[in-house]
Amino acid sequence: MKFTPPLALTFLIPTILAAKTTTVVVSSTPVPELSDVIWTSENTGFDAPKVSPINATTWDWWYFDATQSPTENDEQASVVVTFYTATASGFDLLAGYAAEGFTSLTLVEARVTWANGSSEAYIFNATEAVITAVDNGASGDFDEGADKASFTGAPDLSAYRVGLQSLLISGSVTIHSVAPAHYPCGPAEASKALEIAPHIGWANAIPGGNADVQLTVRGHPLEFTGVGYHDKNWGDQNFASNVGSWYWGHGRLGDYTVVWFDFLSAQRENYVSAYLSRDNEVIVSQCSGISVRPYGENDTYPPLISTGPPTGFDVKISLPEGGIFAFSAATKHIIAGGEEGFPYTRWSGTLRGDIEGEEVIGQAVLEQFNIFTE
Ligand SMILES: *[C@@H]1O[C@H](CO)[C@@H](O)[C@H](O)[C@H]1NC(C)=O
Ligand SMILES: *[C@@H]1O[C@H](CO)[C@@H](O)[C@H](O)[C@H]1NC(C)=O
Ligand SMILES: *[C@@H]1O[C@H](CO)[C@@H](O)[C@H](O)[C@H]1NC(C)=O
Ligand SMILES: *[C@@H]1O[C@H](CO)[C@@H](O)[C@H](O)[C@H]1NC(C)=O
Repeated sequence: MKFTPPLALTFLIPTILAAKTTTVVVSSTPVPELSDVIWTSENTGFDAPKVSPINATTWDWWYFDATQSPTENDEQASVVVTFYTATASGFDLLAGYAAEGFTSLTLVEARVTWANGSSEAYIFNATEAVITAVDNGASGDFDEGADKASFTGAPDLSAYRVGLQSLLISGSVTIHSVAPAHYPCGPAEASKALEIAPHIGWANAIPGGNADVQLTVRGHPLEFTGVGYHDKNWGDQNFASNVGSWYWGHGRLGDYTVVWFDFLSAQRENYVSAYLSRDNEVIVSQCSGISVRPYGENDTYPPLISTGPPTGFDVKISLPEGGIFAFSAATKHIIAGGEEGFPYTRWSGTLRGDIEGEEVIGQAVLEQFNIFTE
């Protein structure tokens, strides 16, 4: 028998000794106080909580996904786990869970999509969250009695492990980074602006990585390897009051990692961010020089709440040395939202582009918010 030490131990022990550690306990109900919100980066704390304490209108979350590598029969399973410290009055899309009684501010949503495209969600309505930041990484324990959801990050952001433990869903998602972390306008350095748009923060700890999913869901194994990703968003005001529409996505194209953001505020001001890396080297990390537009059916731009989900998106990134890096993101499975009249859709899909005359393909997770009413 082979003994493999648990991942959390192998990556925490060597570095925990010297690194700066802070722990916060977040309660399951909003605090009637002003929140302190971080909008400028420091030398450490890349993935640390950015809003403290959380009140009724502020929000903070840690997001993780993994998508299956292309298979011979064109299957594409995926998993998305989001650890919220937010309520529906901060992040509007939690209203559906709140209506079902899942009102905890420390809420975890695990969405699995089987290879056949069937999608389902599991909720951890945690009684509190304990979040520990070590150097640039963070770990969170969200417990609801015997049910537990957690994430454990390496202090240098090189790897994350998400653990789930309940009767319905258990196991892990591990992600080993192949792409350096970044903020909306550039690399992970001190004194960088953290707003992707006014009142909305973004820190992308793992733009792309190798994911290993080992889950048991309702007694069935959901196991695959593929592309993984981790970021966090936060805000100091109610989400929907600051967003008209947003297109975000990430994926792999050959051995390139891409991340895109093309956003319109409620006042129709455009904010963007583009990221491209290869072999753990950043090629593009900028908050300009990118456009993302829908194509095919339902290609209304800007998308309205009445607009159905589009067929896909065309992405064009301006390269620093000149030229355009262009690719398409074709949607495959709707993995969250997408109902008629709903302001949000998330997909897994396929990226296709041309790099120096060579066709490159790969897989992606992408989303749109379509909050505009007219
Ligand atoms: C929450 O904190 C933010 C940031 O300090 C503040 O603007 C807002 O008014 C607070 N909201 C509530 C409901 O107290
Ligand atoms: C979820 O947690 C909140 C906050 O602790 C609690 O008020 C609510 O009753 C819980 N809901 C369920 C379904 O357990
Ligand atoms: C897809 O696969 C899952 C897991 O095996 C199963 O529960 C579900 O019923 C399947 N869906 C369809 C539409 O066949
Ligand atoms: C376009 O929107 C309609 C109405 O919401 C929907 O039925 C259709 O499937 C959408 N098209 C695509 C490509 O998803």
